[in-house]
Amino acid sequence: MTEFLIAPSILSADFARLGEEVDNVLKAGADVVHFDVMDNHYVPNLTIGPMVCKALRDYGITAPIDVHLMVKPVDRLIPDFAKAGASIITFHPEASEHIDRTLQLIRDNGCKAGLVLNPATPLSYLDHVMDKLDVILLMSVNPGFGGQSFIPSTLDKLRLVKQRIDDSPYDIRLQIDGGVKTDNIGEIAAAGADMFVAGSAIFNQPDYKVVIDEMRKELAK
Ligand code: DX5
Ligand code: ZN
Repeated sequence: MTEFLIAPSILSADFARLGEEVDNVLKAGADVVHFDVMDNHYVPNLTIGPMVCKALRDYGITAPIDVHLMVKPVDRLIPDFAKAGASIITFHPEASEHIDRTLQLIRDNGCKAGLVLNPATPLSYLDHVMDKLDVILLMSVNPGFGGQSFIPSTLDKLRLVKQRIDDSPYDIRLQIDGGVKTDNIGEIAAAGADMFVAGSAIFNQPDYKVVIDEMRKELAK
């Protein structure tokens, strides 16, 4: 059976106490730290960069850090994030001049690589790079902010991508990001996702373990 991974998006964490927040959410049962990087150019918001990733490593965070780059241009941040301790780096293909080169650059820097498709971005971006992907991330909201509602058409898109992965010889994670909650995570998993980003659903609750346990219960159904 597929191992389901829960990846809290720290965008909804309390940034004034970030190390402690990440520690707490991992102790509550999270698998991966989802690290949203926004540049006020590719998306209309501004967040955190490699220094903060390194600060989390220095604080003692050893779990995988999944860096979701919502930046343009992409390439020059990749070596910096790799040095700062990133484990996975994903980017939006429209933000890269040379998608194949960027994917290779991520792997050459020792990280797992992935493409992120926005709700209206076509699947054709996957056509010639499946062999260079460790992760495909489907956005189920338009990127830029936490706390938005899941866009239902993403479920069909998930099924299509899941089929592509199953038809390929590659071992590729299918990640979903945006509006994931305890009440929809079951149908999202049924559509093919195996890695779930959730920001507001986890960090807006007082007890992270309660939410993560509920998510796992839904995933076990
Ligand atoms: C949106 C980010 C997401 C976001 C998810 O651009 O990529 O990771 O923080 O937040 P929720 O789970 O609140 O939709
Ligand atoms: Zn994200």
